[in-house]
Amino acid sequence: MESNVITYGELDSTNREAATLISSGLITGDTFVVADYQGNGRGQGNNHWVSDRGMNLLMSWIVFPAFLSVKFQFQLSKAVSLAISDLLESHTIPCKIKWPNDILINSMKAGGILIENSIMENTLKHSIIGIGLNINQRNFPRFPYQASSMCKETGKTYDLTEVRTMLMTCLRVRFEQLKNGKTKDIDREYGARMFGLNEESKFSDGTAEFIGIIRGVNEIGELQVETVKGMQTFVFHEITLIY
Ligand code: BTN
Repeated sequence: MESNVITYGELDSTNREAATLISSGLITGDTFVVADYQGNGRGQGNNHWVSDRGMNLLMSWIVFPAFLSVKFQFQLSKAVSLAISDLLESHTIPCKIKWPNDILINSMKAGGILIENSIMENTLKHSIIGIGLNINQRNFPRFPYQASSMCKETGKTYDLTEVRTMLMTCLRVRFEQLKNGKTKDIDREYGARMFGLNEESKFSDGTAEFIGIIRGVNEIGELQVETVKGMQTFVFHEITLIY
């Protein structure tokens, strides 16, 4: 599968640019929108994604997952998390996926995913898959003990273009797996790579803290946590893992 790649020196956000390109009718096949720097990178919720110029991967992948029903849209998120972890593991960097889609190296966040879906009838018309992955940045002044990168972990400097090309390949492989209906494999692999799996962890539901054990994620992306009340499922934003 060949993809289009559009590269920019600077953008406010690759996700925003991807949306603009789609609405101007310029996108016909799957396309990567890549930038060296974002002036106003978007994170989950109201968060910003901050990344030093030319140090890390900042990209949005426009795809057309018409085969995926809205109910199962989290499968796309799982596939993308797995693709990023495939990339890190191929560089012998152990990583974990913190539900729903943070990529942790050594328990510190190194990557984030922001997927924006456009829905038509019951399926995904197109998706903008925004990925920020820290590669060569060593210092994170705002989050010194909470953020990491490939370089911070290994001490090596990476060729950004090479890593980007590898990530694109990993993404395409996982997308094909999803398209071919291999959701059971995706579920199993995502489950196995989850941060905190089968360990006692502390959670907050916004009003109280409680102890639970992550047992996995179901096919629609809800977190399954064993608590004193039995097995409970939570949707995104309903609980936070305190670690
Ligand atoms: C998160 O909060 O964990 C998600 C972060 C997603 C950041 C990436 S960087 C490339 C793409 N463009 C954006 O504006 N955001 C995403």
